[in-house]
Amino acid sequence: MKLRILVTAGDGIGPEVTNEAVAVLKEIAARGGHEFVFDEKRIGGVAIVQDGTPLPADTLDAALSSDAVLLGAVGGNEFNSLPPDKRPEGGLLQIRAALGGFANLRPCFSFKELTVNSPLRPEVIEGTDILFVRELLGGLYFGQPREWNRNSGEAWNTMRYTHGEVVRVAKVAFELASKRRKKLTSVDKANVLEVSQLWRATVNEVGKDFPGVMLEHQYVDAMAMHMMNRPRDFDVVLTENLFGDILSDESAVITGSLGMLPSATIGGKVNLYEPVHGSAPDIAGKGLANPLGAILTGALILRHSGGLEAEAAAIETAVRKVLEQGFRTPDLARGQTQGVSVLSTKEMGAKVRETVKQQLVHA
Ligand code: NAD
Ligand code: IPM
Ligand code: MN
Repeated sequence: MKLRILVTAGDGIGPEVTNEAVAVLKEIAARGGHEFVFDEKRIGGVAIVQDGTPLPADTLDAALSSDAVLLGAVGGNEFNSLPPDKRPEGGLLQIRAALGGFANLRPCFSFKELTVNSPLRPEVIEGTDILFVRELLGGLYFGQPREWNRNSGEAWNTMRYTHGEVVRVAKVAFELASKRRKKLTSVDKANVLEVSQLWRATVNEVGKDFPGVMLEHQYVDAMAMHMMNRPRDFDVVLTENLFGDILSDESAVITGSLGMLPSATIGGKVNLYEPVHGSAPDIAGKGLANPLGAILTGALILRHSGGLEAEAAAIETAVRKVLEQGFRTPDLARGQTQGVSVLSTKEMGAKVRETVKQQLVHA
């Protein structure tokens, strides 16, 4: 299998974690006889500084002609006063729009070894397996009009969805649910917002084609609570762009660290793969970042862009084994002092590579 993967590492811990993900993918390629060709381009703050724009044209061209894009993270405090489209985050939203993927899959698992790292009780979170399907190209992020009018002292954004935008993402969510535990929770604010009423009616309509999937609706405020109280009750969770952004970071509390969560965005011209976390300026450049979310994102590339299920599973198993052996980055060692070894970003990447190698030898 040949895969051309564009790496846009971005800012802060982005380069640190994508380096480890790429190294694991190279190990898989070497062992399995695959050819993964990596190219690197700038995005975000690093591109603003060097190219004067958060998404240079050659980055976008390279992305559009690749088989998959692996993005680290963008953003930095020095850019906070720029208008949204000129900021590093603007570059991320532009590449998402240009690649066209509208369904952002954000899996959240409870890893047995990490339950102690969560402020939630182990008996509440053990066995959690949620797949968020976050709509990624609509809602407040892209709706027009949007403006901060400094003369009038007003600012506005628009939460807008079309029927077609909800249909296409709902279909993806129902299809995924029908291959899992056959439950779909759609999250909205239909008690207040017209856009959520359209969302709910459309999800009900799409649901008629999936009678085998149990559909429920939750308001987003209540969902934020249910997810903490009874996370095991949820299978696929479908929601709009901003609600999905918030709920998926909240779900990191179940897993034990934001640094564990991967994502894949499908449905467009080229799939885009990003860990859920950001550039983490508070820990950047210190070797403290957890690379496992980025490494698990690499597994999603193999699954969704390469059809390499066994290789994707080998990475996921290696991550579990490394945790079982007691290896932790600092964010994963909060609740544990005994029986764990705290590793740097690079050391954690090396452990996963070693374990992947052993697994492929024994396969
Ligand atoms: P963040 O996700 O960068 O960090 C939140 C907290 O989680 C921080 O304490 C950080 O140290 C910790 N954390 C995050 N990833 C970690 C990892 N891999 N290992 C260990 N700890 C980790 O969110 P923030 O601080 O709100 O935002 C920082 C910048 O990142 C902002 O500019 C924001 O816009 C940007 N951001 C970018 C993306 C992206 O590029 N996909 C996503 C979220 C935030
Ligand atoms: C994420 C991030 C982005 C989002 C920002 C940085 C634009 O928070 O990927 O979760 O809000 O989508
Ligand atoms: Mn986010």
